[in-house]
Formats: sequence, structure tokens, C-alpha cells
Amino acid sequence: MLRGGKELWLALLAGILITGVYGAVVVFTQRIPAAGELFGHLLGVFGFLLMLMTETLYSLRKRTRSARWGKMSSWLQFHIFTGLVGPYMVLLHTSWKFNGIAGVTTLFTVIIVISGFIGRYIFTRIPRTLDGLEIEGALSESALRQARRLMSLWHAVHIPIGMVLFVTAFVHMGGALYYATFLK
Ligand code: HEM
Ligand code: HEM
Repeated sequence: MLRGGKELWLALLAGILITGVYGAVVVFTQRIPAAGELFGHLLGVFGFLLMLMTETLYSLRKRTRSARWGKMSSWLQFHIFTGLVGPYMVLLHTSWKFNGIAGVTTLFTVIIVISGFIGRYIFTRIPRTLDGLEIEGALSESALRQARRLMSLWHAVHIPIGMVLFVTAFVHMGGALYYATFLK
């Protein structure tokens, strides 16, 4: 379950390892990796793939309603893990420059991660079974209703931010690949 925070520790561990590799590249090359060169590019592509998995896999599992594909709570843990590690790799990809649509995409990425933490907090306030389904009667009726209302309000923010983020990300990728990669 989410309460143990295992996915946060694993994401922290992955973040430390990635920082180690990034640090080694900086020390070795004596400069910040450029977003359009091999290492910076790989960070962007892999980070973005993890973000795409974050956007799609948990929602797909949630809609299949079949336990055959694994527990929902495990998929949410995976969602949070990839939702933290992906954005972190993408942040290192930026080479710490935030111009234009790419900068806007980074801003949305930061916002969705912060919003994710808020959602995770509300989510863990609602008593659930191991598969992430709500347990009726475990909270007083009014507290449960309030938590549910808060969660659906939160969904109405988190989901559109994700959609806008992917639209700007694809525009950035198209532009960056065209101007910085193919026209070189
Ligand atoms: C959500 C995902 C991504 C974010 C937030 C992001 C963000 C950024 C940022 C902030 C920059 C620096 C812009 C500047 O110079 O001011 C950049 C550069 C770049 N990005 Fe991304 N990026 C993402 C994914 C990708 C992906 C998947 C690719 C490749 C397919 C890519 C390709 C590039 C390239 C080639 C540059 C260098 C452009 C140049 O040298 O002018 N990015 N990105
Ligand atoms: C790239 C970053 C992220 C993207 C694109 C993203 C996208 C989404 C989407 C589309 C959903 C809706 C799932 C559905 O109901 O079908 C969702 C739900 C959720 N996300 Fe994220 N998310 C990201 C990062 C995070 C992070 C970092 C956290 C936690 C720290 C988080 C926590 C949650 C929670 C708790 C839910 C609600 C689960 C539920 O109500 O069933 N997300 N996210």
C-alpha cells in the first residue's frame, strides 16, 4: 500500500543513482550536458518515456477492472515511481535553460509532480482494501464524502494538467528534433 511510502524511497534511490551518473558526466566532460547531445538527449527521451508510462498505464489498469494484470495499488506505486523518476531525468535533460515551449513544458512537469504529492496525500486519507478500493463505513459518512469530493476536485486539476503537458511536450519534441537535430 501507499502508506509505507516504498515507491518514494525507491524513487529517491533511483534519483541518487541518476545524479551520480550525471555528476560523473559533468566531471568527465567539464561541462553541463547539452540537451541536444547524446547524454542530454538520452535523459530527455528516457525521462519522457517514463512520463508517458505514468500517463497511461495506471489509467489503463484502473479501467480494465481485472485483477489478472496485478494489484491496482502496485500500479499506483509504479505510477508514482515513474512519475518522479521520469520528470527528474527530464529536468536534467533541460541543461538548466528554460526558453520557449520547452520551458513551459518543464513548468507543467513541475506542477504535475507537486499536484501528484497533494493527490497522494488525499488518496491515503481514504481507507482502502489492498487493491485500492474504498472501504465503506471505515470513516464517518460525512468525512468520507468530504474526502471523496476533495479527490474528485483534485482529479479535475491533475488530469487536464497532464493533457496540456503532453501537448506542449510533443510540440517541443517536434520543434527540437526538426531545428536542433535534423537541420544540423
Ligand atoms: C516532458 C519532456 C521534456 C521537457 C520538459 C523538455 C525540456 C527541454 C528544455 C527546457 C530544453 C532547453 C531549451 C532551451 O535551450 O532553453 C530542451 C532542449 C531540447 N530537447 Fe527537450 N524536453 C523534453 C523531452 C524531450 C524529448 C523526448 C526530446 C527528443 C525527442 C527532446 C529534445 C530536445 C532537444 C534536441 C533539445 C535541444 C534543443 C536545442 O539545442 O536548441 N526533449 N528540452
Ligand atoms: C509525469 C507525471 C505524472 C503524470 C503525467 C500523472 C498523470 C496522472 C493521471 C492521468 C491520473 C489519472 C488516473 C485515472 O484516474 O485514470 C493520475 C492519478 C494519480 N496520480 Fe498522477 N501523474 C504524474 C505524477 C504523479 C506523482 C509524482 C504522484 C505522487 C507523488 C501522483 C499521484 C497520483 C495519484 C494519487 C492519483 C490518483 C489515483 C486514483 O484516484 O485512482 N502522480 N495521474
